[in-house]
Amino acid sequence: MNKSSLSRRDFMLLGAGAAAAGLAAKVTILEPRALWASPGPVPPSDMVRFASIGTGVRGCELLQSSLSVPGIECVGVCDLYDSRHQAAQEAVQKQVPATRDYRQILDRKDVDAVIVAVTDHHHRKVVEDACAAGKDVYCEKPMSHTVEDGFAIMDAVHKNKRMLQVGSQRVSSILYAKAKEIYDSGKLGQVCAIEAYWDRNTASGAWVYPIPPDASPQTIDWNAFLQDAPKRPFDPVRFFRWRCFEDYGEGLAGDLFVHLISGIHFITGTNMVAQRAQSAGGLFRWKDGRDFPDLIETYYDYPNFRTAIRCNLNNEGGEFIGFYGTKGTMIIKDSTLTYRPQDTRPQPESYSIYGWPKRLREQYLKQWQQEHPQPEPLHFNVDEEAESFKVPPGYDDVADHQANFFNAVRTRKPVVENEIFGNNAALGCHLSNYSYFNKTVAVWDAAAKKIKSA
Ligand SMILES: NC(=O)c1ccc[n+]([C@@H]2O[C@H](COP(=O)([O-])OP(=O)(O)OC[C@H]3O[C@@H](n4cnc5c(N)ncnc54)[C@H](O)[C@@H]3O)[C@@H](O)[C@H]2O)c1
Repeated sequence: MNKSSLSRRDFMLLGAGAAAAGLAAKVTILEPRALWASPGPVPPSDMVRFASIGTGVRGCELLQSSLSVPGIECVGVCDLYDSRHQAAQEAVQKQVPATRDYRQILDRKDVDAVIVAVTDHHHRKVVEDACAAGKDVYCEKPMSHTVEDGFAIMDAVHKNKRMLQVGSQRVSSILYAKAKEIYDSGKLGQVCAIEAYWDRNTASGAWVYPIPPDASPQTIDWNAFLQDAPKRPFDPVRFFRWRCFEDYGEGLAGDLFVHLISGIHFITGTNMVAQRAQSAGGLFRWKDGRDFPDLIETYYDYPNFRTAIRCNLNNEGGEFIGFYGTKGTMIIKDSTLTYRPQDTRPQPESYSIYGWPKRLREQYLKQWQQEHPQPEPLHFNVDEEAESFKVPPGYDDVADHQANFFNAVRTRKPVVENEIFGNNAALGCHLSNYSYFNKTVAVWDAAAKKIKSA
C-alpha cells in the first residue's frame, strides 16, 4: 500500500483492529510523515537528479522505494554484473543509461547525488571518488568495511564539503521517532540496560542466496569486484554471498548489528563509539566455508548504560530492542513499540521485616504510615497505563530515509544519519568482530583511532 493512500478512516479501522488483538490497553497506529514538505508538484528547478552505483538486491530495493519520493529523478545506474543493469531499469521503471564503470556516472554534470549500494569493501573507494567529483552520497550501511575505511570516508566528505547519509533506515522510521520521544520524555527513568537481537532461520537469512544461471566471467567484472581483496579465480559464491567472507563483508555484525546499534544510538541520543566490547558465539550450523559465525553475542560498555546484542541464524526470532529503565520498559519488536511503566510509588518494606519480631514490625509500619500520610494508594494499574504503537500496513522507512537525504541535498540542511553517526555505529560492528576473532575484550582507543585488546 502506498503510504499517501492511507486515509484517516483507515487509521481508525486499523486502531480498532489492533485493540481487538489485545496488544496493550492503548494502541496507536502512527501516521506516516509527508515525504515532501510543500503541497503540489515539485518545480523542475528543485528536482534532484541521482544515479545508483551498485544495483544488486539493495540497490534495486532503493530504486523501487525512490519512486514514492517526490522531487527526485534517477538518471543512471551502474553495476559490475550486466543482468543487474536490467534489474535496475525494471526497478526504476525507466530505460536509464547503464554502465559497469562508475566513473562514467561521476563524470556526468547532470548527476547531483549518488546512491552507493555496492558491497561493503567498495564503500570507501566509491564514496571517496563520488565526493571528489562533487556528488552528495547516500551510502549503504555499514558505512565502513574496516576502521581505516570509516575515517577515510569521513575525511572525503569533510574535505569536499559533501552531504552523506548512511543507510540504516530505522533512524528515519516513525516508530523509532516515537521511541525517541518516549525515551527523551524521562518516562523510562534511568535506563541502565539495553538488549537487542535480530534472529533469522532461513537459508536466505543466512545469506545462502541462489546463483543466477547467467553468472560468468563474461557477465561479471570479477577483477573489479575483488579490487584490493586477495586475487582469486572467478567464484560466483563469493560474488553473490559476499557477506560470508571477511574480504568483502563483516558477517552478522556488519549486516545486522549495525541496524540495532544505529537504532540504539538514535533513540538514546548517543553519538560515540562503545568503550569496550566482548563477544561470544560460534559457527554451529551453516558450515559452508564461510568465515563468520552464525551466532554472535556482544556486550558493549557505554558511559551511562550497558548493551547486549545478539544475532542468531538458527532461530526465527525477528528484530527486537528493549530499554529497561527505573520507571518503565520500552520494547520495539518488529513493527510494534510498547511502553510499560512500573509501579514506583513508595511502598513500606514487606520482605525483610518478616525477620523482625511482631512488635518491631508494627512499630515500623506505624511510623511508615505517619511519614506517608496518603490514606489510600492512588489508583495505578500498569496494564492500563501500557501503550503500544504500530506503523500502518505498507509503511516504508526506506522511503522516509531517502526523502530525508534528498531533501537535505536540496535544502543543505543536515541529514539524520551523517558520516560521524555512521562511523560510530560501524565501529561498534568492528569492535564486535575484533573481540570474537581475537578472543579478547576489544577496547576503543579514540585518540589512536584504533581497536586494541584490553
Ligand atoms: N539498509 C539495509 O537494510 C540494507 C539491506 C541490504 C543490503 N544493504 C547494504 O547494501 C549494500 C549492497 O548489498 P546487496 O545486498 O545489494 O548486495 P548485492 O551483492 O546484491 O549487490 C551489490 C552489488 O554491488 C556491485 N558492485 C560492487 N562494487 C561495485 C563497483 N565498484 N561499481 C559498481 N558496482 C559494484 C556488485 O556488482 C553487486 O551487484 C551493502 O553495503 C549492504 O550491507 C543494506
